[in-house]
Amino acid sequence: MKYLNETTPAAELPSTSSQGTSSLRAGSDFRSEQRRLLASFSCDSDLLKFNQLKFRKKRIRFSRSHIHEWGLFAMEPIAADEMVIEYVGQIIRQVVADMREQRYEEQGIGSSYLFRVDQETIIDATKWGNLSRFINHSCSPNCYAKIISVESQKKIVIYSRQPISINEEVTYDYKFPIEETKIPCLCGAESCRGSLN
Ligand SMILES: C[S@@+](CC[C@H](N)C(=O)[O-])C[C@H]1O[C@@H](n2cnc3c(N)ncnc32)[C@H](O)[C@@H]1O
Ligand SMILES: [Zn+2]
Repeated sequence: MKYLNETTPAAELPSTSSQGTSSLRAGSDFRSEQRRLLASFSCDSDLLKFNQLKFRKKRIRFSRSHIHEWGLFAMEPIAADEMVIEYVGQIIRQVVADMREQRYEEQGIGSSYLFRVDQETIIDATKWGNLSRFINHSCSPNCYAKIISVESQKKIVIYSRQPISINEEVTYDYKFPIEETKIPCLCGAESCRGSLN
């Protein structure tokens, strides 16, 4: 099954060293407290950026892409570590996603707009979504996808991983699971892996 995948689990926070501290706490306790603090700071900043994005959307457009059919392009410079756009679509369960995937294949919809949020939840942007559905995959992307929680609801947000110039195509790594039947990757990057899956 080919679902677009999140790339940065919240649990993957940078590990920190306890060297040089004279704390009486065991090193592992200290480290887990540091991680908890880092996680809460990161959540606060995600929430802040998400709210800012609601009020001031990034100027972007969809247009023909050298990678695949339509792609998403920046219309303003975007700094690194900015929220670019939320991946919007219908929130569906795994069983529904399986049925829809089969139906879309029968209907000849070759592109996948199904984005996995977690084991049970998928966002389907095939028939209902925003401009994020046009973002193509690159093996050397300028963005990444991250799942954040807003009022206990999981959201997929596309973040810039480096500065993006005006008219540059916005891409992220789909991280499709490995399958036998390969989908050739046309991203054109020097480091292209050759296939999406
Ligand atoms: C979410 S859509 C991206 C938008 C798509 N270009 C369009 O015009 O609707 C995902 C699909 O685009 C195609 N695609 C995206 N990136 C690609 C790449 N690097 N190489 C080949 N096909 C790609 C694949 O068919 C994939 O299933
Ligand atoms: Zn590639």
